[in-house]
Amino acid sequence: MDAGEVRTQKHQLLTHRGFKLISGIHDPEYVDQICHLELRDSDVFVITYPKSGTIWMQQILLLIEAKGDPSSVSQAKYNGDLVPWIEVEGTREAFITAPSPRFRVSHLQHHLMPAALSRRKGKVIYIARNPKDVLVSYFHFHKIANMLDTPKDFNDFFERFMRAEVFGGSWFEHIKTWYSHREEMNMLFITYEEMIQDLASAVKRISSLLGKNLTEEQLSDVVKHSTFTNMKKIPQASYEQVSDDLLNHQQGNFMRKGTIGDWKNHFTVAQNERFDEVFHREMQDFPLSFIWDIRDIR
Ligand code: A3P
Repeated sequence: MDAGEVRTQKHQLLTHRGFKLISGIHDPEYVDQICHLELRDSDVFVITYPKSGTIWMQQILLLIEAKGDPSSVSQAKYNGDLVPWIEVEGTREAFITAPSPRFRVSHLQHHLMPAALSRRKGKVIYIARNPKDVLVSYFHFHKIANMLDTPKDFNDFFERFMRAEVFGGSWFEHIKTWYSHREEMNMLFITYEEMIQDLASAVKRISSLLGKNLTEEQLSDVVKHSTFTNMKKIPQASYEQVSDDLLNHQQGNFMRKGTIGDWKNHFTVAQNERFDEVFHREMQDFPLSFIWDIRDIR
């Protein structure tokens, strides 16, 4: 095994140009082509560290484009077919030929994404989520995702996350790097917690980035069909339709709790202290603060 590889039972993580990918899902040569893609002004890339609200934003973008009409969102088997991950093998050809607007999601680091973004071509929506909840959500996702190694227990996963031995690498590096490039691009930086707190104003900000003038009624339809409770009822949006090869639906749901502060039900006091220490060290110069508890916004 190369020094840069972390072997898992089913797939292995491979480090490519400083970023961890999943073998069998991501091909390094394929990923290397992404930075050369030509962009259009109307392209929108949703960038997230895994488990920060990616599928939520897929649903919101599709609904904004459809002016709040949920029937046009249900055309595909699941939203990932309409708003695919750019790094997944085989999606590049479709991207090049797709009609505008092209919506894509990605977990990649900045240096692997189209260089044209930094020339203000296309738009970026970066969603950040408090990393304790990301860790917990990612732990549960590892139990259902067949392409990821099932952790022995929460502590096992906690250690992996802290060592950045997960797809996506270090949460700290991801957010800091993307944030440091925000002024070069047309970027909306938004947090999962802001979306929980006030989905209507988040939807307004997103639709104005897209240059869409929706009526109040259309905006409220977008909000209505993208709440956690309503999205859970839409199989295309909740990823219930994803094949069993990829997701083990017996082990849990993609749409799990959809709230802030579930880390309190998982972290031990010692884990929390250690996390806080690392967070403080890594994020001391980061200008934004996070919301760690649902009670802080209600
Ligand atoms: P939890 O596991 O904490 O419930 P991603 O799409 O980036 O993988 O993120 C998945 C997380 O976003 C899951 O978090 C999921 O429940 C949450 N999520 C998805 N849709 C949501 C919605 N409409 N409202 C709130 N949370 C949502």
